[in-house]
Amino acid sequence: MSNVSELISSDINQYLKMHEHKSLLRFITCGSVDDGKSTLIGRLLFESKMLFEDQLAAVEADSRKFGTQGEELDLALLVDGLAAEREQGITIDVAYRFFSTDKRKFIVADTPGHEQYTRNMITGASTADAAIMMVDARKGLLPQTRRHSYLVSLLGIRHIVVAINKMDLVEYSEAAYNSIVQDYTELADHLGLENVTFIPMSAFKGENITEPSAKMPWYTGPALMDFLENAEVDEDAHLNAPFRMQVQWVNRPNLDFRGFTGTIASGKIRPGDRIRVQPSGHESTIARIVTMDGDLDEAIVGQSITLTTTDEIDISRGDVISTVAAPAEIADQFEVTVNWMHAEPLLPGRPYLMKIGTRTVTASITDIKYQVNVNTRQHMPAKTLELNDIGVCNISLDRAIAFDPYKQNRDMGSFILIDRLSNNTIGAGMINFALRRSHNIHMQPVDVDKSARTRIKGQKSAVLWFTGLSGSGKSSIANAVEKRLHAMGHHTYLLDGDNVRHGLNKDLGFTDADRVENIRRIAEVSKLMVDAGLIVLSAFISPFRAERDMARNMLQDNEFIEIHVDTPLAIAEERDVKGLYRKARAGELTNFTGIDSPYEIPESPELRIDTSNTQIEAAVEQIIAVLRERKILPQ
Ligand code: ADX
Repeated sequence: MSNVSELISSDINQYLKMHEHKSLLRFITCGSVDDGKSTLIGRLLFESKMLFEDQLAAVEADSRKFGTQGEELDLALLVDGLAAEREQGITIDVAYRFFSTDKRKFIVADTPGHEQYTRNMITGASTADAAIMMVDARKGLLPQTRRHSYLVSLLGIRHIVVAINKMDLVEYSEAAYNSIVQDYTELADHLGLENVTFIPMSAFKGENITEPSAKMPWYTGPALMDFLENAEVDEDAHLNAPFRMQVQWVNRPNLDFRGFTGTIASGKIRPGDRIRVQPSGHESTIARIVTMDGDLDEAIVGQSITLTTTDEIDISRGDVISTVAAPAEIADQFEVTVNWMHAEPLLPGRPYLMKIGTRTVTASITDIKYQVNVNTRQHMPAKTLELNDIGVCNISLDRAIAFDPYKQNRDMGSFILIDRLSNNTIGAGMINFALRRSHNIHMQPVDVDKSARTRIKGQKSAVLWFTGLSGSGKSSIANAVEKRLHAMGHHTYLLDGDNVRHGLNKDLGFTDADRVENIRRIAEVSKLMVDAGLIVLSAFISPFRAERDMARNMLQDNEFIEIHVDTPLAIAEERDVKGLYRKARAGELTNFTGIDSPYEIPESPELRIDTSNTQIEAAVEQIIAVLRERKILPQ
């Protein structure tokens, strides 16, 4: 395998070298399953001079090649839409094909047209300069055409070619063409799509593909290839944008050299230029632009380079290097448009990883403002996003990042969301704008702090987090532990599911989304109480690992003691103190944990108590022992 891929990569590089002077146009084809996309792509490949289809397919198959670093620039260009997803192990059904003419190199992302595969199109389209919208001359605009056009407008693809195909089947009728032009113009006006070009063609017969068609003398515009060869590519536009480079790694081969490597996302750079490192804000001057082929006087968008600065400043992987003249924005809360790509729905409040450029941060959706129906573009209220849904949401990060809105800079404003446990890519998104409130809310510094509060109480504060099935005995054990701690003179507070759900959380039910929000609030309250100097006992089913981990991460090391009250379902069900299992089995209660809603067992809790063979008093002893061991209680 590795021999094969070495050969392929050397072949492709050699090929790319030969064509280095040519610009690269990336485009996608959209349309329904049988509008003729494959025929058109086949035709373009056939007409172009060099076919690298087979090699590329093999390169794609070898995902190991696209590790986190080291790939050649052009190879990266070829596959970068794919690399992130490959790294994360998601399978996205997009075939990238590569061809070239005397004038230009092309990459076309071929995405299956099936209704449910929005994500394929989004992935294929996220780096595209142009979109070819296939319309069957006999059928006119279909729901798919509207949906894809909306997505194209959402992604900000600048050139749209409406390929009115199968003209041979309508006898090359100008009237048929005109009527589609009229319909689509209306749609484009609606969506605010500019730069729409209409080309009547027959991909099958090769009419208006490379040469103006003699069959349609009434059409005076360009043939498709002519258009593709001359459309302005994004690279040109990005060249004039302010300089941005996301630092991929810091290069320090020896003490005398310290360079910052990355691919230029926009603009150009020269030695002597003043730069700002973001988000830290340190400024410096570029000393050298280092590449494999020697130093450069200037580097431009798309090039992979290593920069050195005239003075030692702090720069690390994930930072953005910007021009001082027009730096990126910095914020930690945004309005974003998210395309959800996972079978399990998006849950507001759940912590996810967000990878933007070369930086990965923890993020959670604070609010789904609305979901968009991609067929009608209607806004609909939503509590979650399901597979392939698109929603406009507010998102909150655990720290500030440098960014540009997606509309201004696609590289600086697009991101993927990753599941923290499985490491799978579960969503893709675009930053619309920063939320102002992040600039205006600052943590209030206080003089009486946690250590002052715990000192006066003569204790260390902590959370004892009891998790387990309904009826496992969490509340009874927590109650007995609180009694014991109280008798020992400690200041405590017991938060219990049934009680908190009568007050603070009375607006929440038992859907996954509501449980996530339930636990998020409890975690925040527990954290405040720890800050108040208390020993907090939180007894909630808290069925999901992600939220238990979130609670753990909110606190300092050794402040969070996870106690799994481990009772087999059969025993909890047999006890059925509240009669809820019986109701759930009878179908009178839905989403019941253990019956039709999952419980994710803790992987490494500080303590596991098997209540089928442990009495309450013994459980209390075990917990007190752990608290002593962890120095929360004195020996
Ligand atoms: S959690 O899943 O969000 O952590 P929580 O601990 O607050 O749940 O509440 C669980 C309690 O609510 C149970 O002990 C039970 O008394 C009650 N309850 C009512 N409906 C359900 C249900 N569908 N699933 C689980 N518990 C339920």
